Parts: sequence; C-alpha cells; structure tokens
Amino acid sequence: MLSQKITVALEGHHYDIHVGQGLLDQAGDLIAPLLAQPRTVIITDKNVARHQLLRLESSLTQAEITFDTIILPAGEATKSFEQLEKLLDQLLGLQLNREDKIIAFGGGVIGDLVGFAASIYQRGIGFIQIPTTLLAQVDSSVGGKTGINRPLGKNLIGSFHQPDLVLSDIDTLDSLPKRQLLSGYAEVVKYALISDDKFFHWLEENGSKIITGDPDIRTEAILTCCRAKAVVVAEDEKEKGARALLNLGHTFGHALEAEAGYSDRLLHGEAVAVGMVMAFDLSVKMGRCPPEDAVKVRQHLERISLPTRIAKTNHPLSQIKMTAERLFNHTRQDKKQSGGQVTFVLLSGIGKAFLSADVKAGDVRQIFQRAID
Ligand SMILES: NC(=O)c1ccc[n+]([C@@H]2O[C@H](COP(=O)([O-])OP(=O)(O)OC[C@H]3O[C@@H](n4cnc5c(N)ncnc54)[C@H](O)[C@@H]3O)[C@@H](O)[C@H]2O)c1
Ligand SMILES: [Zn+2]
Repeated sequence: MLSQKITVALEGHHYDIHVGQGLLDQAGDLIAPLLAQPRTVIITDKNVARHQLLRLESSLTQAEITFDTIILPAGEATKSFEQLEKLLDQLLGLQLNREDKIIAFGGGVIGDLVGFAASIYQRGIGFIQIPTTLLAQVDSSVGGKTGINRPLGKNLIGSFHQPDLVLSDIDTLDSLPKRQLLSGYAEVVKYALISDDKFFHWLEENGSKIITGDPDIRTEAILTCCRAKAVVVAEDEKEKGARALLNLGHTFGHALEAEAGYSDRLLHGEAVAVGMVMAFDLSVKMGRCPPEDAVKVRQHLERISLPTRIAKTNHPLSQIKMTAERLFNHTRQDKKQSGGQVTFVLLSGIGKAFLSADVKAGDVRQIFQRAID
C-alpha cells in the first residue's frame, strides 16, 4: 500500500483526500488537473520549508506548473490579522485571480490561515491542503474550518471553506518533532473514543507504531480518522449538531490551554489528551460510563507518553499553577460562544460519545480539582 484515496461528499462540493507515501512527488500531477492555468502559490512556514519544500517544488516543476512560494514564521502566532493582511496583499501583488488556487503546505496553523485567506481573497478562491503534521493530517486539513486567533480566544474569526484536494504524505512526518507527533496522536485516539471501539483496540495494539513510523500503520490510522471526520462533516458541515462530538476533550482542554497561555508548555493535543481523560472521569462520576473504560483510556495514553493529568508529572504542564475555579471559568467562556449552554461531550463507554448540556457545575469543578491534586 503506497497511497489510498477517499472522497468527502458534501452538498455541492466534493474533494479527494489522498493518504500515503510519495504523495509530495506526485503532487504536481495530482494538482495540475485542478488548475485553470498552470500556476499556483505555495504558502508554508519556515520549519516545513527547511525540511520538505524542495520535494514539493520539484514535483510542481516537473508537472510544468509555475509557482511562487511564501514562507511565513512558524507557530500559533502566525494565525493573526497581521499575517493574514500581509498574505492577502502578497497574493494581490502576484495578481492571482479567482480561477487560481493556492496551496497550504504545513500544519494546522498554515492550513487555518491559508484556508481563511482563500475564503476571502476576491470573495473566495480554491485551495489545496498538503498537511505535514499528524494533527493536520487527521483533523484540521479535513472539514473546511478555517480561521485566526484574537486576544480574546482562539479561532474566533474565521469561515467554513472546503479545500479542493487534500494530500497527506506520511513521509513528511519523518521530520516532525516527536512531541508534535504525540500531540497529533491524541486526536487519533479521539476518533476511536467517539465512535469506534474496534479502532481503539486496534490502537492499543498498533498505536506505538504510528509514533515509531510504520508506514502502513500510519496510512491506515490516518485514513480511518479522515473517514470518520468525513462522515461527520457530511452530516453536519456547519456544526449545528453532531459535528460537536469532535470536540471530545476540548472544553476541558481549552481551559488548560488558556491557563497555559497557548504556549509551548502545553500543545493542543496534550491538552486534548488530559481533556479526554477528564471527560471520561466526569462521565463515570455522573454514573454514565463504566469506570474500567476510563482506566483503559488513561492507561493507553500514558503508555504512549501523553499527559493525562495536570499535576505530579514530568510534563512542563505540572509547573503551571492552576486553580479549579479559574479553569472552570474558562468553560463558561465556551458557553458564551455557543448561546448560553456549555455542551459537554460525555461517554457511555469507549466508542460511545454523546452531547449533554445537563452537567452540574459542581461536578465539573471537582473533575478539575482532581486533575490538579
Ligand atoms: N481547522 C480545524 O478543523 C482544526 C482542527 C484542529 C486544529 N486546528 C488548528 O491547528 C493548529 C495546530 O496545528 P498543528 O499542531 O499542526 O501545529 P503547527 O502548524 O503549528 O505545527 C506544529 C509545529 O511543527 C512544525 N512542522 C510542521 N510540519 C512539520 C514537518 N513535517 N517537519 C518538521 N516540522 C514541522 C511547524 O512549523 C510547527 O512548529 C491550531 O491552530 C488549531 O487551532 C484546526
Ligand atoms: Zn483538536
């Protein structure tokens, strides 16, 4: 198995996701049929450029596509109005028109920023996602959520804008730092916990090979996640209902990320790992979930070296002073954004997630307190 393809079918728009090895080298041939004229713009960040850009550029050249390359700073701070404005001006300077398509080549930061730029450039142009982190390959490159951050919170300004093609070349993961790989792995586990207990058992067997780099296992895991996400997005593109299940662990996780100041002390997937354990603990506390399922999840994440609690670990997270009250207040911030109700993703077991707006504040506080003690 070198690479495989799945199709995301939405009303009025469908696109292919290719997953596997060697896709950067085929990128030119796969992209050429989508272009009205043989030219494009690659937008990437410094780290991705250093490790992976040459392969993409030579593939475009071989397919006789001319291109410009824009290299942005790496890191979450790039998802800003300042960078968006600069990028849009550069695209205008290159005289890109509405038939042209641009390429987002990088992790979720580049994907979110470039997708948003594409959605508003001349009222919307097409774009291609070439995700280079595990997180972006299993999550952010699929589904069409784009956006930037504001001081008041992450992803508060954005749009829904679906890509025209996604190329997930697993070879790009070879240069990704291990901590980033593990952070993406948390999102892989998330799909299993939401709706696929068989996938969870498969991960218990094979998950460590995703980290060590087995190409077939990586390909299969990413395809499974993309299929799961594609189904949910097809049902509920604009997150009016079922898509919210994909936020498993995220309400808790966002509170931790906010307290960590969205810094390197806590990566998104690390926050999600702790958050998913908290979602299980809350479900057990409410009598909705068998305790042994919560134990299995915690053990699996620990075995893979992801954090599962805030205090008393070697993780930099343990150095951050947090109080249950402050953490709890961040969950109320989520509430303002969703029209008055904090909806939690709870579980009645592994692979059985459901939404509940009926969670007692006292229970949530206690779950935070337990993670801190
Ligand atoms: N749109 C969505 O649906 C969605 C879903 C989940 C997350 N997100 C967003 O995604 C972002 C996080 O994405 P991320 O974890 O990919 O972070 P990222 O894009 O910042 O990448 C992580 C780090 O790895 C580097 N990097 C990327 N690919 C590399 C490679 N192949 N080799 C070496 N280094 C590489 C980057 O330069 C960066 O330093 C957040 O902003 C989050 O809000 C969006
Ligand atoms: Zn996430």
